Amino acid sequence: MARIAHLADLHFGEGDAAAAAMLAADIRAQAPEAVVVSGDLTRRARPQEFRAALTFLEALQAPLLVVPGNHDIPRDDVLARFLHPRRRWHAARSSAWRDGLMLPGLRLIGLDSVSRAQWHLDWAAGALPASRRAALGAALALPDGAMTIVACHHPLRHPPWAIRRRVPRHAEATITLLRDHGVAALLCGHLHRAVAMRLGVDGPLQVVAPSALSPRGAGFANGWNLITAEAGRCCVILRERGGGGWSARPLEAA
Ligand SMILES: [Fe+2]
Ligand SMILES: [Fe+2]
Repeated sequence: MARIAHLADLHFGEGDAAAAAMLAADIRAQAPEAVVVSGDLTRRARPQEFRAALTFLEALQAPLLVVPGNHDIPRDDVLARFLHPRRRWHAARSSAWRDGLMLPGLRLIGLDSVSRAQWHLDWAAGALPASRRAALGAALALPDGAMTIVACHHPLRHPPWAIRRRVPRHAEATITLLRDHGVAALLCGHLHRAVAMRLGVDGPLQVVAPSALSPRGAGFANGWNLITAEAGRCCVILRERGGGGWSARPLEAA
């Protein structure tokens, strides 16, 4: 059995230090064996925001799997966005941040779903082009027999309340890839609201974390997911901050 802390949408640059300290204390109290961060560490991909995220994450005292979100590439500097979209990300990332992790009986694989531009105006929507799906397929094909969880920023399908938002390009082809390799769960963020849903009858469980710290949440509490993975199944406990403390409830698949 493995216990994973699943966070997303920290958006350093928006929140306050007291909320970050409360979050870190709650995660440490649950003693996860790994921390998975499904992107949007920052508000505007500024170096000082990345530094704050780095300090926060390294203080959690657990192995870290971190993938970028759409807010982690430049938005104000169009030249930087097109020519070097991940330069700030790579400059900021610590050697402690991994693209994949192995725990006893469980492997965790990171997937970059961020896109610098689209043919439509919603450039935040992400993309999973053939090159990324090929790299993911190669990682999934390694025969180690362990249960597998993949983490990215963008959900590949949306619940009814978010159906008008675009999913990343090639989302369905990625779902097929995950299903064909028996991936147990896909951990994502981006929606700033927690939800779990199965991606097809025999597809993975898609788990969306709430925003960990951002005040932009359409009235939904900040929080994180405590995931227990065992024997090919995931149990998700949603931990929400409110009233000066934390509450916990199971997050069932919709
Ligand atoms: Fe976000
Ligand atoms: Fe996002």
